[in-house]
Amino acid sequence: MGDRKMSEAEARWKELKEIIEKANYHYYGLDDPIITDAEYDSYMQELLAIEREYPHLVTSDSPSQRVGGFVASQFPKVRHREPLLSLDNAFNAGDLRDFDRRVKSVAPDAEYVVELKIDGLTVALTYQDSVLVRGATRGDGETGEEITANVKTIRAIPLRLRDYPSLKIAPTLDIRGEGYMPKDSFLELNKSREEEGLPLFANPRNAAAGSLRQQDSRITAQRKLGFFAYQILQAEQIGLHTQQEVLKALSDLGFNVNRNYKVFASIEEVIDYCTSMVEERHKLPYEIDGLVIKVNSFAQQRELGYTAKSPRWAIAYKFPAEQVETIVRDIVINVGRTGVLTPTAILQEVFVAGSTVSRATLHNEDNIRDKDIRIGDHVLLHKAGDVIPEIIKSLPEKRTGREIIFEMPKECPSCGSPVSRLEGEAAHRCQNISCPSRQRETIIHFVSRDAMNIEGLGPAVINQLLENELIKDASDLYFLEEDKLLKLERMGKKSVQNLLTSIEASKQRGLAPLLFALGIRHVGVKAAKILANRYQTMDNLLQATTAELQEIGDIGEVMAKSIATFFADPANRAFIERLKIAGVKMSADQQVTSQILAGKSIVVTGTLKTWDRRSIEDLIERLGGKSSSSVSKKTSFVLYGDNPGSKLDKAKALGIPLYSEEEFKELLEKAAEQPER
Ligand code: IVH
Repeated sequence: MGDRKMSEAEARWKELKEIIEKANYHYYGLDDPIITDAEYDSYMQELLAIEREYPHLVTSDSPSQRVGGFVASQFPKVRHREPLLSLDNAFNAGDLRDFDRRVKSVAPDAEYVVELKIDGLTVALTYQDSVLVRGATRGDGETGEEITANVKTIRAIPLRLRDYPSLKIAPTLDIRGEGYMPKDSFLELNKSREEEGLPLFANPRNAAAGSLRQQDSRITAQRKLGFFAYQILQAEQIGLHTQQEVLKALSDLGFNVNRNYKVFASIEEVIDYCTSMVEERHKLPYEIDGLVIKVNSFAQQRELGYTAKSPRWAIAYKFPAEQVETIVRDIVINVGRTGVLTPTAILQEVFVAGSTVSRATLHNEDNIRDKDIRIGDHVLLHKAGDVIPEIIKSLPEKRTGREIIFEMPKECPSCGSPVSRLEGEAAHRCQNISCPSRQRETIIHFVSRDAMNIEGLGPAVINQLLENELIKDASDLYFLEEDKLLKLERMGKKSVQNLLTSIEASKQRGLAPLLFALGIRHVGVKAAKILANRYQTMDNLLQATTAELQEIGDIGEVMAKSIATFFADPANRAFIERLKIAGVKMSADQQVTSQILAGKSIVVTGTLKTWDRRSIEDLIERLGGKSSSSVSKKTSFVLYGDNPGSKLDKAKALGIPLYSEEEFKELLEKAAEQPER
């Protein structure tokens, strides 16, 4: 009997492994996702559950390796099969034309492949009989560090290569590429590190390097790293003759290949492309520090050969550093929701990395001390993650002697309470929970988009409401009266009505956004959703113990404690009670909305007029349906908008019902007329 159960489990495990591998290939190799993130997670959870019961299934190419778990005490050194070379740099068009002259003197008809130079770190991968057996850092080029367990957590790196015609000729394959951290992951990571008082990463490259050199691979798994492949050492052995063919083959093998590469015959076209990327790069979701120009043909590469340290057939065009000089006019303090005092530099306006900047966060006192930033100083500025203005360093040689050394205030600039710095924390905090600044930030958070989403309630209006004592905390918003609002400056009848409508609508947001709105430390959008799903009502959650919370996947010890502490506070309970009295919904959405799409799997394609992608997916889920990204026989119907993709054709071919946006709305309306089951 046990055997039977085991073989069934094994069969399912195989199936899941295939589904997950295929999903990865479509996502990274083809840039054409076939399942949603939620579906991916649920397959992964199922696979992990089977492996917990049958540990013999945990193979080195199992998708479960993606979640990490291996803890290295130190990284063994590994010698690279062939050294990793560095590239010569070009800084302007002249340097590129010189490079072209050198190339053309040897290979007059050379073509160039121009790739983005991803700003991450080189990762060298080794596959043995198609299975990933080793991942290593660059090190000194000859010897690197073995980081296989960490590398396996990167979803863009296949654990097993896809079938490829000539692979049998080369049982060992070495693939090289760039590991990197996307801009948004970097910003998110630093934000949470700042909240936890941890030192910040200076840029995505450092964050990626730090993440890949984590001793606990579970941490690497959480860091959302990406990988772009660009080289196969055994390319010629497997019948590839040009860099362009390599990029195509890498994609076929299941790798993520950056699609912005171009092939040019003349250096002037190369220069134009490089120049166009100087501004375009700010639109990319990852940082690049230049472009790499490679001679396409391997035969010509061989003819050109190498200098002592770099190939003659390639060059790196480096962007001018996006650093500008400006002056610190003042340093002001902002008191955040959690009472942290954040110093901000007020700058003389400058243009950097695509926009004008007049403020830069200084994070905390230590940072100001370490960089020795004084009021009046000339400073160098850049944008961290290409987004957040940050002072790199002060320029003491430009001081006049009139600069002022900044001191953190001893009292909160907002409420005058004493400010303290806790042991082991970089932050200074105002401990007064009713500090007006903290209240104000708490309200700003409460009404924000992912929270209660109250439109027309920006910081300026919130200030007005506080100053006129119409509200003390966010719960008072639900008791605002029209005539009092009308007496405020710049508040006309129309805007008052819009505001009240928006406040009224927010009562129906449901438990998940409400939990996020409460601003419980460490509870973000995702955790709020998990809690809402698990407990369904606020009353259930209020009774949960720390131990019970901690048993939920994705809720760690720190978060569990923070949640329990929050709900234990009588002031917070009273706040929730007031929301309840106001009629704010205290249950998860699924409970009350009708389930008219229950059991239906729906694929959306094209642009809809009424909904963007996220809101239509939300709606489908709220109505009990499942939103899927690929059409199959199991699809219940396809909802199509303007410019539908190939999914519509596929649905037609399979005879799946099609709904236009209008027809979908009619369906919803008809269903709404029928009494709920
Ligand atoms: S080719 C011999 N292509 O830039 C060829 N390198 O010195 C060597 N890099 O740290 C590298 N994107 O990791 C190449 N598309 C790309 C690249 C790239 C980023 C990095 C590489 C190395 C440095 C080159």
